[in-house]
Amino acid sequence: MTQNIIEVKNLKKMYKTHEREPGLINAAKSIFKRNYRIDYALRGINLSINKGEIVGFIGPNGAGKSTTIKILSGILYPDEGEVNVLGFVPWKERVKYVQNIGVVFGQKTQLWWDLPAIDTFELNKDLYKIPKEVFKRRLKFMMKVMNVERVIKKPVRDLSLGERMKCQTIAALLHKPKLVFLDEPTIGLDVVAKERYRNFILETNERFGTTFLITTHDMQDVEKLCKRVIIINHGKIVYDGPLKEIKEKYMTTKILDVKFDGKPVGFKCKGCIVLKRGRCGLKIKVDLSKKKIRDVIDYLIGEFEVLDINIQDTPIEEIIQKIYQEKND
Ligand SMILES: Nc1ncnc2c1ncn2[C@@H]1O[C@H](COP(=O)(O)OP(=O)(O)OP(=O)(O)O)[C@@H](O)[C@H]1O
Ligand SMILES: [Mg+2]
Repeated sequence: MTQNIIEVKNLKKMYKTHEREPGLINAAKSIFKRNYRIDYALRGINLSINKGEIVGFIGPNGAGKSTTIKILSGILYPDEGEVNVLGFVPWKERVKYVQNIGVVFGQKTQLWWDLPAIDTFELNKDLYKIPKEVFKRRLKFMMKVMNVERVIKKPVRDLSLGERMKCQTIAALLHKPKLVFLDEPTIGLDVVAKERYRNFILETNERFGTTFLITTHDMQDVEKLCKRVIIINHGKIVYDGPLKEIKEKYMTTKILDVKFDGKPVGFKCKGCIVLKRGRCGLKIKVDLSKKKIRDVIDYLIGEFEVLDINIQDTPIEEIIQKIYQEKND
């Protein structure tokens, strides 16, 4: 039986910001007269998430992803709307509520900056009243999977971005929360670390039925982890459904960034559009309905002195544009 653990209705949030024109005179003027600007970050969000789901929450910069996660985790309160997570109103019953959730913000550290990560882990053990043996076992397991045994005793400020991200995730999951919010968790991780990180999430989900809501700009994260995606743009949800549908209907292009040894003369390939021409490089958009990516690469390598190829997925902005187009057709 499915069980709804997140229920959001008509969620709205605005930010009031102090605005001023550039320059010193305007700085002085603004002391006496303040101009405010109101921006709606969320314009009526509705969503529900079931226990055990891993949902990808994606959208362009400034769409409202972090704002939503901050509200769902109880850090911010909304201006309008209803939120029920695991039977709590997050911003009202924060102390009790946080025992049940884990939160990771990739852009910000939640670890104590001057202390080694292990101290934050110990602190969380006391805060969440994790029994000593359970703590030891879980920590050992997570340190191994994340490959951070060597760094947990260094002050956090000396860690690399990727190392910090991994430690932050351990800190957020030590108390075995039922629900985890991950806001750009793979930022700064190298390819191998990303793979391990994703496996860790999948395993946690399978073993404990942990529910995850993940925001990321890396479509590979979404492909590996999420069966369902929610796409947000300008504070509104524009798509909520299976990833499969997004892939089949909207992710119909890929971008190839190719570097050549010398100038590539005479590139011509069906289904390909050259977006940018550099001295020794080409940026090519491939229409996957007309041409397989493999065939384009074979052609490139066969005909030119290729030094490097970078393959990118359809940009999220393009997917959104297509969704809007379809809605208006
Ligand atoms: N503290 C704040 N004060 C004023 N405006 C804010 C504040 N935080 C966010 N905003 C604005 O609200 C909107 C949504 O921001 P949010 O951080 O939720 O976006 P996001 O989807 O997480 O983007 P990104 O992918 O860049 O992380 C943006 O226009 C942003 O400028
Ligand atoms: Mg964000």
